Amino acid sequence: MRFARGLVLAMTTMLGAQGAMAAVTVTKADFGKLPDGRTADLYTLKNADLEVGITTYGARIVSLKTRDRDGKVADVVLGYNSVDGYVAEGAANKKTYFGAIVGRYGNRIRAGKFSIDGHAYQIPPNNNGNALHGGPHGFDDQLWTGKQIPDGVDMSLVSKDGDMGFPGTLTVHVRYTLTDSAVQIVYSATTDKPTVTNITNHAYFNLSGDGSGTILNEVLTLNADQYTPVDAGLIPVGGLKPVEGTPFDFRKATPIGERINQPNEQLKIAGGYDHNWVLNGAGAGKNTPGEMKLAAKLYDPKSGRVLTVTTTQPGVQFYSGNFLDGTLKGKAGVAYQKYAGLCLETQHYPDSPNQPAFPSTLLKPGETMHSTTVFTFSTQK
Ligand code: GLA
Repeated sequence: MRFARGLVLAMTTMLGAQGAMAAVTVTKADFGKLPDGRTADLYTLKNADLEVGITTYGARIVSLKTRDRDGKVADVVLGYNSVDGYVAEGAANKKTYFGAIVGRYGNRIRAGKFSIDGHAYQIPPNNNGNALHGGPHGFDDQLWTGKQIPDGVDMSLVSKDGDMGFPGTLTVHVRYTLTDSAVQIVYSATTDKPTVTNITNHAYFNLSGDGSGTILNEVLTLNADQYTPVDAGLIPVGGLKPVEGTPFDFRKATPIGERINQPNEQLKIAGGYDHNWVLNGAGAGKNTPGEMKLAAKLYDPKSGRVLTVTTTQPGVQFYSGNFLDGTLKGKAGVAYQKYAGLCLETQHYPDSPNQPAFPSTLLKPGETMHSTTVFTFSTQK
């Protein structure tokens, strides 16, 4: 097995203040070869509470093991056992972006077009005439450089000037670290020409465990009074709308399946939830560090697992796995049907480069894009 014959690099660092030591080990193994012969690595971060696998192909989370209320461990993210599964999706034109870092611009840009300082740019459209997740060969499809750091791994990528049509050479770092029962992701990027960025993680969670069925009984809270309604191409129509009185109101914990089939135009367009919620307290959110705030809380009554998502980002895309159609078989050997997992993509709002009223995603030379998202796991009765 690929996991077993991995390289030997192991590092243990001691964490924690006041003498409370929680060890994080980082090991590196072979995750398989890309079609061009390059090898993708798998870094495994492990402490007493969590074990997280991250590959250099797309800097993606491929596994995330955590305990339920009875102490039983399960892998709570969707994905594959080696790089082959991820490559095969791309080749079959069935990309799910399981666990990947998406960019340079995660989510959609209308027609793949935008301009900066009067210069027009075109990203090749790859989703109903719009650009999705940075175009056909976005960051999910790049081999990143992994480097062990205290308590985790730093994934870095240099996206060249003109990569997928975006201006400027962009140097990106995504640092994954573990602290007790939390996975912290710190994003940063710099550019040598004005450009736009929207970089996030696209993990699909199922708190009952990968391959265990749908997420419809999982109970979601979103810290948002407003969301951004979309047109048929899932591009925001402009403006923020209150969630009050709609199936988009997750201010009180609500099972995901409770309203997903209501005769609501927005739900119909997306085949479920696939929208951006405007986080309360988002502030200007203009590529500044921003303040950490609650984005989402997900509770699984079956296992008792709870995932709490906090972020500096101004929005979160809650996507209920609507496009999974039973044709892809994952790690557990189970086909992923509709709603088999859900994403909570902390982000800037979709199509921001064309929507001046949204927090800006512009990044200029001399500035650093910086954002942080934390996934914290706990259990509840
Ligand atoms: C994002 C999008 C969805 C879908 C998935 C990938 O979450 O918003 O519409 O494209 O990525 O399938």
